[in-house]
Amino acid sequence: MRGIVLAGGLGTRLMPTTLAVGKQLLPIYDKPTIYYPLSTLACAGVRDILFITRAEDRAATERLLGNGSQWGMRIEYALQHEPRGIADAFLIARNFVGGERCVLILGDNIFHGEGMTALLRSARERKEGATVFARRVPDPERYGVVSIAPTGHATRIEEKPAAPQSDWAVTGLYFYDNAVLDIAAGLAPSARGELEITDVNAAYLERGQLCVERMESGIHWFDVGTNDSFLDASIWVRDCARRGECVGVVEAAALQQGWIGESELRAAARRLGKSGYGAALARLISAAPDSPCGAGARSA
Ligand code: TTP
Repeated sequence: MRGIVLAGGLGTRLMPTTLAVGKQLLPIYDKPTIYYPLSTLACAGVRDILFITRAEDRAATERLLGNGSQWGMRIEYALQHEPRGIADAFLIARNFVGGERCVLILGDNIFHGEGMTALLRSARERKEGATVFARRVPDPERYGVVSIAPTGHATRIEEKPAAPQSDWAVTGLYFYDNAVLDIAAGLAPSARGELEITDVNAAYLERGQLCVERMESGIHWFDVGTNDSFLDASIWVRDCARRGECVGVVEAAALQQGWIGESELRAAARRLGKSGYGAALARLISAAPDSPCGAGARSA
């Protein structure tokens, strides 16, 4: 399975900062935003990953993540020159995905909590169709909204509906079979000029192949895009760190997967020295966390 992190976009709600630096390179508490989706993919057992960035963020992103070998991962890079929509990721990643299944995660989405690993595992094990992750929200009109049958299959999906039929928002994490490449290639831009991920999901719904995993309240989801949401997410991550919980620590996920061992962890802790992240790694050496994706998840 191939992983794609979509980390382009204009970041207009964070200007002027994003005139100089892409949103996904900005920190959420003690690490760049992009670490969080990367650690979610690692928790899902996905180690071949394409990062799609704006041209101006490519060098900094590569300086940060390299080729991924420090985590036992393989990271490649591609550019999105204009924000043509989330589904554009599949046009850009076509060669990278090849004949495989893939998972797309937005570079500004954070997932963490009890049961997250189990949800990732069941999505990964589904060989055909699409799986999206939905979360109940008070303001569904701001999101892609999905109605769900008791079987877990979607019955309706709409992008930012004026009169939402449910309060389940579709989050920025999507698993697809290989058909997604042709579905995305056949899309026309929407009225706002974007290739819409909701249109991709609607195509799977039409085939009866859109599965929805419900994220219950034990799972935290942040979709950071404003100054307030950066601050809220940072405070939440700091509170987790104070309780000794690892959120967005890529090494923790890589260790759990057996992609790195204690010597790599020690080297990373040394390299990051006095930073809070380095201190978290040093703590990991003596006590492996229950699960890097959220407490209690390991037993699932
Ligand atoms: P948004 O938050 O919708 O857009 P943005 O990041 O450009 O921010 P703003 O609304 O403040 O201008 O995007 C969600 C995520 O998807 C984010 O990580 C950026 C990414 N994205 C792309 O990389 N390319 C795109 O064409 C779009 C639409 C989004």
